[in-house]
Amino acid sequence: MNYTPKQIVSELDKYIVGQAKAKRAVAVALRNRYRRSRLPAEVRDEITPKNIVMSGPTGVGKTEIARRLAKLVGSPFVKVEATKYTEVGYVGRDVESMVRDLVEVAVRMVKDNKKKEVEDKVMPIVENKIVDALFQNRRVTQTEVNRETLFEELHSGKCEDEIIEVSVLESPKPMMAIGGNEISLGSMFDGLAPQRHKKKKMSVRHAREVLLQEESDKIIDMDNVNEEAIALAEEQGIIFIDEIDKIIGKSQASTTADVSREGVQRDILPIVEGSTVPTKYGNVKTDFILFIAAGAFHVSKIEDMIPELQGRFPIRVELESLTKEDFKKILSTPKNAVTVQYSNMLKVDNINLVFKDDALDEIAEMAERENETSEDLGARRLHTIMETVLEDVSFNATGEHPMLDVMIDRNYVKNVFKDKQQQFDLKKYVL
Ligand SMILES: Nc1ncnc2c1ncn2[C@@H]1O[C@H](COP(=O)(O)OP(=O)(O)OP(=O)(O)O)[C@@H](O)[C@H]1O
Ligand SMILES: [Mg+2]
Repeated sequence: MNYTPKQIVSELDKYIVGQAKAKRAVAVALRNRYRRSRLPAEVRDEITPKNIVMSGPTGVGKTEIARRLAKLVGSPFVKVEATKYTEVGYVGRDVESMVRDLVEVAVRMVKDNKKKEVEDKVMPIVENKIVDALFQNRRVTQTEVNRETLFEELHSGKCEDEIIEVSVLESPKPMMAIGGNEISLGSMFDGLAPQRHKKKKMSVRHAREVLLQEESDKIIDMDNVNEEAIALAEEQGIIFIDEIDKIIGKSQASTTADVSREGVQRDILPIVEGSTVPTKYGNVKTDFILFIAAGAFHVSKIEDMIPELQGRFPIRVELESLTKEDFKKILSTPKNAVTVQYSNMLKVDNINLVFKDDALDEIAEMAERENETSEDLGARRLHTIMETVLEDVSFNATGEHPMLDVMIDRNYVKNVFKDKQQQFDLKKYVL
């Protein structure tokens, strides 16, 4: 799917309030990657990839934008923390592992797709095995068992929880960590040691899952999967490097920590520039992978990055602090807004939450005030306030009553916090 920048922005608008500049920037970057990939090799190689660095305070949507973007375009996506890496030669994770992680994600995506494709083919085999097992169960108690009726029973969903004994492959071998790289001994010896079957007891529901996996693994050509996955990661992968500001030491590098941070920046450079990273699935070229870096940049500035790296992140967007108007919108308009989330959850327990407009105003104002007077958490503040507002309802809803409407208005919110305040004050006096 190749969205135009406008389409990308309008999709992002469904989830993210404000931050128009950042949305535009990521939309353009994504499209530019597509544009570049369509050019003949001679022209293409002259154009350096245009990666993005987003700066802005905490909780204003940096990570959320990247995550939504990846979901939207169905790209393999990984989010990594820059602080997790250490310079090559030191103990710890090397930066190339972010590419290996991306490939893992791509492999999983391709495999899942293939599995769906072959499901129709393998389902009859799986059901046959389950019916065999059900047959063994019934033979113990019934004199006459009919496979036909067992199939019907299976399809009716009546015996999902029945425990059956099926023969399944032994679980994969444990992973062994060697110098930070995970190498699966299981896959190393694939094809060498014969895989062993083992009889296991499990519910019909679980057996279907396990057998489906086994049977589809048999017919899915893993070489193809790996190849497709690498292509997917190379052409559509997005790597989101969070906390990039934390690996930018202040200029005069004197301590070893600063030296090693700069080392990490240097290690990142070739990956962002385009290089080949070996993975257990094959070599991955990083030329078209889109990198989005983000950080709060409180202490260090983007300009403190080593110049070569700065050059690879030419698109810079600053995300704005959110206002109380933004907060109000965030509370109610996005598809996954917190108020919607709580409503859906509490409906399970027969509570119909109704948020009055003035309640949203109150919460938004409160969030802004709290962010100003104590730590600025951005939109994350809304989550903590909402949790408190609905604590009482959440605790008392049992589902054993008929559907109840609970109206949350400004007074409700105020009362919750007035009580809190009093409890708090009380504690002070008891001391
Ligand atoms: N502009 C926004 N629109 C909608 N929701 C938002 C917005 N900004 C933040 N949120 C909500 O706040 C939460 C935190 O946002 P996010 O993870 O994007 O923060 P961040 O900018 O990456 O901060 P940090 O620097 O701490 O990583 C998200 O789960 C999201 O629901
Ligand atoms: Mg973040």
